[in-house]
Amino acid sequence: MNYVRNAWYVAAWSEQIEDGKPFAITILDEPLAIFRGESGRLSALEDRCVHRLAPLSLGRCEGDRLRCMYHGLLFAADGTVVEIPGQDQIPPQARVRAFPVVELHSWVWVWMGDPALADEALIPPAVGLDHPDYILGHGHLDYAAEARLINDNLLDFSHLTFVHANSFGAGPEFAATQARITPLDRGIRYERWIENSLGSSSRRSDVPMDSYMRYDFLIPGVLLMTGGIFPLGTAKACAFGAPDLDEAKGGVTFTSQAVTPVTGKTSRYFFSWGPHRKHGDEALRDMLMGIAGQAFDEDKVMIEAQQKVIDRTPDPRVMPTAHDKGVTMFNRLVERMARAETEGNRNAA
Ligand code: FES
Ligand SMILES: [Fe+2]
Repeated sequence: MNYVRNAWYVAAWSEQIEDGKPFAITILDEPLAIFRGESGRLSALEDRCVHRLAPLSLGRCEGDRLRCMYHGLLFAADGTVVEIPGQDQIPPQARVRAFPVVELHSWVWVWMGDPALADEALIPPAVGLDHPDYILGHGHLDYAAEARLINDNLLDFSHLTFVHANSFGAGPEFAATQARITPLDRGIRYERWIENSLGSSSRRSDVPMDSYMRYDFLIPGVLLMTGGIFPLGTAKACAFGAPDLDEAKGGVTFTSQAVTPVTGKTSRYFFSWGPHRKHGDEALRDMLMGIAGQAFDEDKVMIEAQQKVIDRTPDPRVMPTAHDKGVTMFNRLVERMARAETEGNRNAA
């Protein structure tokens, strides 16, 4: 899998990690056992007991430690074995890998690369479910497709016109015009103004307005999107650049989405969406989540079918179009970062 490892991957919604109960998730083909110790602190260990390779996710939390429930080896949060029933000596190799793990913005983030490089400042600024300004719904979806295909989908919104004509009510403008794309340190920024429009099903207006949307798509595969509707002429007045969202007349929402590669051909997709308190309420949130549910199913049908075609194609090649600019930029960034990691590892060896 060609993915960046020195990055924070979303492993779960915080609420999915129950007290005292290990949670199993595979990221980049690495099975993990994540658990919340008595102190509330999270740990993420390789999900493979050093004794006879039973999964630690079937284990039992004891304080801030995890006991393998096959023959009872006890693991500390850093992965070292601290107790072997019936044996006094603990060999130095009695340890499993521990992954840096952080709980932030209602997500559990795991650093899949070199632990020495884990920097919390690199966690994408998602909007958590407890954010005071937004009323958010959330969920997740499992895909029988590689994460990269979902990233590619999220990096090219021209598909809204076709895949989501019914759910988002997107018009021809998504496919007919280009978004403005700016490179970021660890991703890409998309901005799009649609002038003189009645909006879409998620950002509806009775009178024509200028509609703005912006999203950042960040390593390893996190989409953070907002936008709003503005009086006619606003797009021109700000030269099609970023408006002040506080000036929006309506339609300000926020969505955080994360694509996590599970294995080479499976992924988990996490999402939240909802209105700014000034522009909506719980009822609007529920309506948006209904639309999103339909739209995300539409993507899943297309992407899983696409994966099947790719799998039976001997030499699958793509033919990029003008809308693939962001896809190409992001995938090049991933390749560059992944290559630098491999070279760094080789130099270190
Ligand atoms: S496999 Fe874990 S203690 Fe034996
Ligand atoms: Fe989509």
